[in-house]
Amino acid sequence: MIIAIDGPAASGKGTLARRLAAKLGLAHLDTGRLYRAVGLAVLRAGGDPDDAVAALKAAESLDPAALEDHALASDRAGNAASKVAAIDAVRAALLAFQRTFAHHPPAPATGAVLDGRDIGTVVCPEAEVKLFVTASAEARAKRRHKELLERGEASIYARVLADIRERDRRDSTRAIAPLTPAADAILIDTTVLDADAALAAALEHISQPS
Ligand code: C5P
Repeated sequence: MIIAIDGPAASGKGTLARRLAAKLGLAHLDTGRLYRAVGLAVLRAGGDPDDAVAALKAAESLDPAALEDHALASDRAGNAASKVAAIDAVRAALLAFQRTFAHHPPAPATGAVLDGRDIGTVVCPEAEVKLFVTASAEARAKRRHKELLERGEASIYARVLADIRERDRRDSTRAIAPLTPAADAILIDTTVLDADAALAAALEHISQPS
């Protein structure tokens, strides 16, 4: 079984993906980490994430160990990720890894949950279950702001909201694989649902796919 979960930044799709994977015994791949690792590698090499040559070089030499780096969670990595993610060749270079994970998940898992922006539309259009998790920009910024403060990081709500809006704009308007729900995706709006309710809604859909 392949479950594809897409949605904008801080929508709760990662939490839902992790909880679904644990509940159903599936492997989980947070595909945003691939783009974050590429973006961070470019920054660390002193490069510009908008530079297609530097970004492709980083994508082609991506070491899976880099996916464990704690620095991937930072907004600096997130912003760099959304820049490298708009480069066609970078997306193409990361595609095989994602598809292999979906179709041959690490044992003992017999299926996989992938979350990102284009899983249901591009990476795994054949997925049995497709979910699109979203929430208002304000609700997502509030969540993200709280998370940063809890981690002991400095955060200003207005700045977080502006960053989220900018990332939404970049992810939704790019020419390739823009953030958009697959035609057959089920919408889960976490503006009004907490994590437990979102999990319950997803499980209900999985047990009775329409
Ligand atoms: O989900 P996360 O916030 O970690 O993703 C970081 C960035 O990576 C996103 O803003 C998006 O530009 C890019 N991304 C993507 N396709 C995916 C996953 C992430 O373009 N499947």
